[in-house]
Amino acid sequence: MAEDEPNAGAPGSQDGPYTGPRATDFTPEPDHSDDPGYLTRTRFLSNVAIAGGGVLTAAILVPVVGFAVAQPLKGEDYRWVYIGPASEFLKNPPPYANPSPSTKIGEVTSLAVSGPDPDADRRIYVVYGLKDPGSRPQPEPGEDSAVFESRFAKWASGLTAADFDLIAIWNRCAHLGCPVAYSPGSAGYVCPCHGGAYNSRGLVTGGPPPRPLDRVDIKIVDGSKSYTAEQIAKGEDRVPLAVAATSSNPNLQVLVGKPYSIDQQQETFPLADPGVPVSGTLSHMYPFT
Ligand code: FES
Repeated sequence: MAEDEPNAGAPGSQDGPYTGPRATDFTPEPDHSDDPGYLTRTRFLSNVAIAGGGVLTAAILVPVVGFAVAQPLKGEDYRWVYIGPASEFLKNPPPYANPSPSTKIGEVTSLAVSGPDPDADRRIYVVYGLKDPGSRPQPEPGEDSAVFESRFAKWASGLTAADFDLIAIWNRCAHLGCPVAYSPGSAGYVCPCHGGAYNSRGLVTGGPPPRPLDRVDIKIVDGSKSYTAEQIAKGEDRVPLAVAATSSNPNLQVLVGKPYSIDQQQETFPLADPGVPVSGTLSHMYPFT
């Protein structure tokens, strides 16, 4: 057939200038799109996209999850460290005779402590004071000073050892870790970096810290007695604070141990890094908050 004839070059035509191999079967290829066992190009590309997305997601989540899980699991090596005789820390205990607003109610002591772990090298504040510092009377606006002094004296005269406790506060700011300083004037701690403020028990009163100052285990023991490791683990070596505060036993010693974190309700938690909330909604969203 000549090239100018109507069917020249049409599918199935054996005519034209081409002289190579020619298809002889023009039946359409079978459609495998409904066959789950057949890997079409579209399905292959979809699988590649899904696998790539999984790898990217893992690249983001694995470090985050690892960070969140590794911290609590991180082994810490702490031991009890002697910081001094009890008489150095249990100052100005109740009862108070003829108290006035200038009467010292307990005391805050600052000292540096060196421990077996680099984290254990820290400055701590040992606070012997009221469990509820907010219970201390404050002058009402316009209140006569004699009336206030009388009201204060009545309150202070009623204080007992049960109103006091002994805590050790780490001076590491719970925001980004700057060292906080105790301010006797405000009976609290202030952070020089971003204005974080805490009360005498280390609870947040202002600024960006997401939780209170961390604390360190503290206990009073009788250094003249010995205990087994099991008894120490059970706390049987501890001298009750109310007993120690009024005791003249020169062998009573104060020891500090493992640090831990607390929330504003003073519930205890494993030690967290600065910036990490330990309770509440934000603690579940960290580090995305
Ligand atoms: S580090 Fe203390 S407020 Fe920021």
